[in-house]
Amino acid sequence: MRRNPWFETVAEAQRRARKRLPAVVYGSLVAGSERGRTIEDNIGAFAELGFAPHVAGHHADRDLSTTVMGVEISFPVLISPTGVQAVHPDGEVAVARAAANRGVIMGLSSFASKPVEEVVAANPNTFYQMYWTGDRDAMVQRMDRARTAGAKALIATLDWSFSNGRDWGSPAIPEKVDLRTMARLAPGVLPRPAWLWAFARTGRVPDLTVPNLRPPGGPAPTFFGAYGEWMRTPPPTWDDVAWLRKQWDGPFLLKGVTRVDDAKKAVDAGVTALSVSNHGGNNLDTTPATIRVLPAIAEAVGGQIEVLLDGGVRRGGDVAKALALGARAVLIGRAYLWGLAAGGQAGVENVLDILRGGLDSAVLGLGRAGVHELCPDDLVIPPGFRLTLGDSGH
Ligand SMILES: Cc1cc2nc3c(=O)[nH]c(=O)nc-3n(C[C@H](O)[C@H](O)[C@H](O)COP(=O)(O)O)c2cc1C
Repeated sequence: MRRNPWFETVAEAQRRARKRLPAVVYGSLVAGSERGRTIEDNIGAFAELGFAPHVAGHHADRDLSTTVMGVEISFPVLISPTGVQAVHPDGEVAVARAAANRGVIMGLSSFASKPVEEVVAANPNTFYQMYWTGDRDAMVQRMDRARTAGAKALIATLDWSFSNGRDWGSPAIPEKVDLRTMARLAPGVLPRPAWLWAFARTGRVPDLTVPNLRPPGGPAPTFFGAYGEWMRTPPPTWDDVAWLRKQWDGPFLLKGVTRVDDAKKAVDAGVTALSVSNHGGNNLDTTPATIRVLPAIAEAVGGQIEVLLDGGVRRGGDVAKALALGARAVLIGRAYLWGLAAGGQAGVENVLDILRGGLDSAVLGLGRAGVHELCPDDLVIPPGFRLTLGDSGH
């Protein structure tokens, strides 16, 4: 009997992804750094928060829709930018189509495997993400390209410290996938026929290049070539952030804030929104869960700019908790990557449906008419849960 392609939780999507993907690809999605404490805390902290539901007086009609930086979405979840090289042949285009079908925003990484033009064609509500990499001319050229393609906003991700090494071992990602590498990887790949077949049908192997960082008239760099450029680029000052913001005459989201003092500086630099994020636990390990530091940041700057959160969201209830603590919306990373690996576009739609359904149940049970009504009173918050980083008053 064929297994039902539908899965009921993100945990089941992850189990299927693990079975389907070669270990090297699965390992690069698990990612994390050092002890993996931050990834665990991102997920575990949501479970420390409880709900305080009502027994009657619920609303028959509930409004989950909202806007993020002026873009209307059917419920407050965005696709967080990730490079999904080698997960699925349709990569970010499949993710963008799924997001469009479910009425949500696609965040496209500049390290993605598909060009921004194809992704915007699949989902006009695409936000383009950049790191601080290359010289200023290159950054301006990349922004111009994304703007011309129709990207509606820029996401600047600045929390990256090139920390590497994981206690559970890092996957050995090849520089280029050619026949020799395929032969070397064969023992890990051959027991994964569904993954291999998905690529074989397209007649292509995952090429691990990054088309959005292609210089005008030149070839797309390899993932490692692009990573090398990034490592050689001097890190940005707050003046650089303000400069970057000025180059993009549209909505601008700064991703990677965990401290109140940084959130205030982001407001001064002119951002439209920020995401409270620790890069999904892939940056400095032992940084606390984003949901712990969200409330203080939302209280400090939420009246001036939109505050989003990413990190550890696996359930619709997690979305409700983030909104109750001051987020306007959340971004998801691994949740949709597991869905993509498990079922391509339909798998990503499945994940979005799980999150939407779980959020709607929470809004119903909490007696709210819509997502904008969620508030801390809806939650059981253990003592010491909230953390305020970087608010020493200086
Ligand atoms: C495999 C992988 C690749 C990622 N690549 C990027 C990226 O290219 N740009 C970026 O801004 N964030 C990147 N991130 C971070 C995500 O956008 C997001 O912050 C994080 O995944 C959220 O945590 P979650 O996976 O628990 O939802 C990546 C995360 C993962 C797991």
